Amino acid sequence: MKNFEPEIVAFCCHYCAYTAADMAGSKRISYPPNIKIIRVPCTGKVDAIHIMKAFEKGADGVYIAGCLEGDCHFKNGNIRAKYRVEKVQKVLDDLGWEKQRLAIINMSAGMGERFAQTALEFTQTIKQLGPSPIKIINTDKSQLEVS
Ligand code: FES
Repeated sequence: MKNFEPEIVAFCCHYCAYTAADMAGSKRISYPPNIKIIRVPCTGKVDAIHIMKAFEKGADGVYIAGCLEGDCHFKNGNIRAKYRVEKVQKVLDDLGWEKQRLAIINMSAGMGERFAQTALEFTQTIKQLGPSPIKIINTDKSQLEVS
């Protein structure tokens, strides 16, 4: 897949990663356009079903970006998100997917550079992994329907 451009969903906490993305923009630090940001009030609100729905809807990779540990505005939402991500990674692994397709990242609102660097690194990781297994299955199905 030489020209593969992954679709990546980033669930970003309003108080940190979303603001960091904004800061990256105002500092004119570019990051790959593959990242589709979904603002959430806290990463603790991102449930396993939201992650799996993103994959079902065509995401090749998903990451959750939340406040630094100890800085969550809702006490421990980012810790809950971390455990949730670990559980979903286990499910992905059980399904035979690469668990690197899902990640959790912590940053503060002032870390515009970190946001951009993370977006770049995650995009590169997903490019190396290729399209999500769901996309491959759907492509195979559509080829069957055409022929
Ligand atoms: Fe940012 Fe909870 S408020 S992760």
